Amino acid sequence: MIVLGIESSCDETAAALVTEDRHILADLVAAQLEDHRPYGGVVPEVAARAHLDRLDKLVGQAMREAGIGFVEVDAVAATGGPGLIGGVIVGVMTAKAIALVHDKPFIAVNHLEGHALTARLTDDTPFPYLLLLVSGGHCQLLVVEGVGRYRRLGATIDDAAGEAFDKAAKLLGLGYPGGPSIERAARAATQPVMDLPRPMKGRAELNFSFSGLKTALRHKMEELGALDDDARANLAAGFQIAAVESLVDRTRRAIVAARASHPTLSALVVAGGVAANSVLRAELESCARDARLGFVAPPLRLCTDNAAMIAWAGLERFRLGEESPLDFAPRPRWPLDETAPKLAGAGVKA
Ligand code: KG4
Ligand code: ZN
Repeated sequence: MIVLGIESSCDETAAALVTEDRHILADLVAAQLEDHRPYGGVVPEVAARAHLDRLDKLVGQAMREAGIGFVEVDAVAATGGPGLIGGVIVGVMTAKAIALVHDKPFIAVNHLEGHALTARLTDDTPFPYLLLLVSGGHCQLLVVEGVGRYRRLGATIDDAAGEAFDKAAKLLGLGYPGGPSIERAARAATQPVMDLPRPMKGRAELNFSFSGLKTALRHKMEELGALDDDARANLAAGFQIAAVESLVDRTRRAIVAARASHPTLSALVVAGGVAANSVLRAELESCARDARLGFVAPPLRLCTDNAAMIAWAGLERFRLGEESPLDFAPRPRWPLDETAPKLAGAGVKA
């Protein structure tokens, strides 16, 4: 079985082909960093136009790289939400057109499910597992019980983790996107600023919060006045330590809760763009080790937005006999656990 996947929900245009035996035949990502850099963040209209310009060529290129024709494709999957609606429409319409012309099933995939199931593409991770999903738009802890079966344990009540890194970087005058530039700056720190808050640390409920940390960083900067490179590096490192500590504290508690409800929990999995952070990965790995739990962190290029994860999630659904109608309407909001309360970082924010 071979599935074509398309991703266009944020600022990455992506197309990929994956097989049922977990081979990635092609995995192309055209980032739009240069289109958005002048604005210091993703501009939805700019993103939608860039997807429209690039997506058809990228699909063609993926097909050539995989060395197959559409006759050999079994289904066409595209991100159907959540995300920036203009971009999602471009991807969904492209996938529907290909499906219609070549008489293939179309599958609308929840972008978050793509991140959530990546560990099964890369590591064949068995259900159930605990997922820490940390990206620019999302920050949540979920028990992944099966395809389409997610139990949310906690989510952010304000900013997503990646959003917090992006805002902190902007405050510090570091480059966009913020996560990688904070991590880079932090490496040069001589004396990380340690008196920033660790939001929610020690709290029994499993939610996250990052807006207070951002405010504390701003106050600290005001206190210090003009910043040289050394001061900036120390602040970046301090912010990173605080954010990671908060994420890891929540995760540690979530492992206990998840084990109580799911005794066969197989692993701690981290996914989403912030999973690219090496300090976070190292801390989570030791957290899993302490709990005698497997640890799965997909390779960096499969942590950030990509289409291989969309193709894979589509494949998992397709082999269970599912497909989507051609009148599927893109969903700007689409939480993984529809029963959980609406919180900012849980797929309810466009
Ligand atoms: O999953 P992703 O590619 O896009 C979505 O938000 O869906 O995640 C992008 C986010 C950005 O906020 C970016 O700053 C953050 O992931 N990020 C990082 C790192 N690399 C990317 N955050 C912290 N450390 C990193 N090394
Ligand atoms: Zn994402």
